[in-house]
Amino acid sequence: MSSKHFHLCFNPIETFEMGRIKINVILLIILKLFLVGTTTGEETCENDREMDKLCGGHTYKSVKPLLDYFKQVRNELDQSEIKEKHISEINADLMIKYHEIVAIHEKLMKEAFQLDEYKNQIIRKENDLQLCQSKVDKLESEINSQQTTINKLTLHANFLASYDECKKELSDKSNNLEICEVQLKKLNSSVIEKDEKISEYSATIQNITENQKTISLKLEEKQTVLFKKDKDIEICHEEIVKLNRTLHNNNIPSSCLPFGEHPSVHEIEVCSSFDVLCDSQLAGLDWIVIQQRINGKENFTRDWATYRKGFGSLDGDFFLGLEKMSELTSLQQYELYIHLVAKNGSIFYARYDDFKISDEDHGYALSLGKFKGNIKDAMRNHENMKFTTFDRDNDPSYDNCAVWYNGGWWYKSCSHCNLNGLYGQYLYWYAEKANTLKEAKMLIRPKEDKNK
Ligand SMILES: *[C@@H]1O[C@H](CO)[C@@H](O)[C@H](O)[C@H]1NC(C)=O
Ligand SMILES: *[C@@H]1O[C@H](CO)[C@@H](O)[C@H](O)[C@H]1NC(C)=O
Ligand SMILES: *[C@@H]1O[C@H](CO)[C@@H](O)[C@H](O)[C@H]1NC(C)=O
Ligand SMILES: *[C@@H]1O[C@H](CO)[C@@H](O)[C@H](O)[C@H]1NC(C)=O
Ligand SMILES: *[C@@H]1O[C@H](CO)[C@@H](O)[C@H](O)[C@H]1NC(C)=O
Repeated sequence: MSSKHFHLCFNPIETFEMGRIKINVILLIILKLFLVGTTTGEETCENDREMDKLCGGHTYKSVKPLLDYFKQVRNELDQSEIKEKHISEINADLMIKYHEIVAIHEKLMKEAFQLDEYKNQIIRKENDLQLCQSKVDKLESEINSQQTTINKLTLHANFLASYDECKKELSDKSNNLEICEVQLKKLNSSVIEKDEKISEYSATIQNITENQKTISLKLEEKQTVLFKKDKDIEICHEEIVKLNRTLHNNNIPSSCLPFGEHPSVHEIEVCSSFDVLCDSQLAGLDWIVIQQRINGKENFTRDWATYRKGFGSLDGDFFLGLEKMSELTSLQQYELYIHLVAKNGSIFYARYDDFKISDEDHGYALSLGKFKGNIKDAMRNHENMKFTTFDRDNDPSYDNCAVWYNGGWWYKSCSHCNLNGLYGQYLYWYAEKANTLKEAKMLIRPKEDKNK
């Protein structure tokens, strides 16, 4: 019964049973006191055995069971006392261990409590942290929204600034525009005025041009009349000279016939009188030289009037003149002799039996008659052509051949021979035998009348 109590008492978990353990200790003490009381007859038990031997009487025999019983009780009590002692030792040990355990338990409890506290603290801190995080999040979102607002505001501010600038510019520009418009209107009106003036002027110019045209037409008419009158005067003058001559009984020949064989200058008279170069050496007697190229000293790029009148000197290069040639050949039939000297010195000739130059009204057109010669009939190409100079283009060519070949000639398109061409360059007779020439002469004489 008592061991059960101890067991319960020393259950370390049931700390609140402490009071009962104390009570049990007290009980043990009481029991011990009782046992001490009962052990007083221990030495007398040895005496009982001796008495039993000595005595062995009747009294002894009747008291003997009771004495045995006491003995037995006393043994049992001794044994239990040992056990009690042992138990109390164990109990003390247990008590020490119990205290240790209690101390450990208390320590553990303390630590558990601290742990709990830490745990709670951690939980609190975690909560705080979460709270803080949410606050941070909130602040961040606020910051973001504020940033967007700031951006918007900045944009807005920029826009406002540029808007103000724009407005200012616009107003400036509109001012400028107004000024411009005013200027434009002024300009427009002045332009219109000027347009009107221009149209007036152009009308006047047109009128003037028309007037000029009519005037120049009239002038041309008058010039031709004048020209005719000049001619008449000339003819008149010639008549006077003629009459004067007959009056003075002068006898001027009408050809080179009377002047012998040597080339020399003589006055002859046809319609008018003029000096000619006579030649009776080249091809027989009675030749009048009408053109000569022997030294290249004369400029043959001459205008119509000069070719008409004649130019050069009779002792060098010259052209007798279209008017005289026309006059001479109009009176009777003339033959033409052409004398050519090639650059290597070879001499060629070409002759035609009916050389004639028409009057100016017909452009001094060329007639030739029959050909005879030791070179190609290059002059044939020019038969019936009018005379052309750089200032009077009578050739059928698209261009003015006189300009191309620096001369005056009966150009076609342009020439097979060009005896008035630039000396040393365009003075030529187109043939296999002689192209560019060193010398050229044209001579004429009246064709012998076969009937004479
Ligand atoms: C200039 O004037 C004419 C005639 O008055 C008008 O038709 C035209 O619109 C004007 N132009 C401008 C640019 O003002
Ligand atoms: C043209 O000029 C003539 C003469 O000078 C004059 O009579 C006429 O009125 C003018 N016409 C014009 C449209 O100017
Ligand atoms: C007429 O002839 C003579 C002699 O030849 C000359 O002196 C005179 O000036 C001439 N008269 C006229 C008008 O040509
Ligand atoms: C020949 O005369 C023409 C017209 O008068 C002129 O243009 C040209 O220069 C003259 N040539 C020479 C070489 O004098
Ligand atoms: C000159 O050249 C021509 C060819 O152009 C030739 O027929 C002729 O025999 C030459 N004369 C002399 C003298 O060399």
